[in-house]
Amino acid sequence: MKIQKQHKEKLNRRSFLKRAWAWLGVIAGIELAAVAFNFLSVGKRKSKHLNPALIKSAGIIESIPPGSVIPFKSGHFYLVRMDDGGFLALSLACTHLGCAISFDGSKKEFICPCHSSVFDMTGNVLKPPAPRALDTYRVFIEGGEVKIDTSKKIRRRGFSIADLVYA
Ligand code: FES
Repeated sequence: MKIQKQHKEKLNRRSFLKRAWAWLGVIAGIELAAVAFNFLSVGKRKSKHLNPALIKSAGIIESIPPGSVIPFKSGHFYLVRMDDGGFLALSLACTHLGCAISFDGSKKEFICPCHSSVFDMTGNVLKPPAPRALDTYRVFIEGGEVKIDTSKKIRRRGFSIADLVYA
């Protein structure tokens, strides 16, 4: 009788372990499916960046003279063309609390109306409280046209020569 009871307990333990392993297998399968789903979703998010509605044309290269700053309020950026011909698209949101900056052509500076931060033509901070340079958007040249990808802001600490795009 005792041996039968022990045998029965052993079987119960064995079947419990079998079920536990089966459940672990199911959980691992769900995890794997979630990872695969996330991976595919990232692909979809990336393709969103190529949304043509978020690509803004700033005009043909020849129409933008060196040393100029053109506001694109609907795109939320200023297109800056440096004296050496390099292009830079600066976000018009101040890096302090996000107010829209304006451009003072006589001083060649961007000024924030909220707390008086000042930025130079490259977006670097000349006067705080803004904690860092203005964000940028990716500029690219296509078919002689200057285009800006407004899908994603590029956060930076300060200006780097690598920020400029040349035709
Ligand atoms: S929001 Fe621009 S200085 Fe405060």
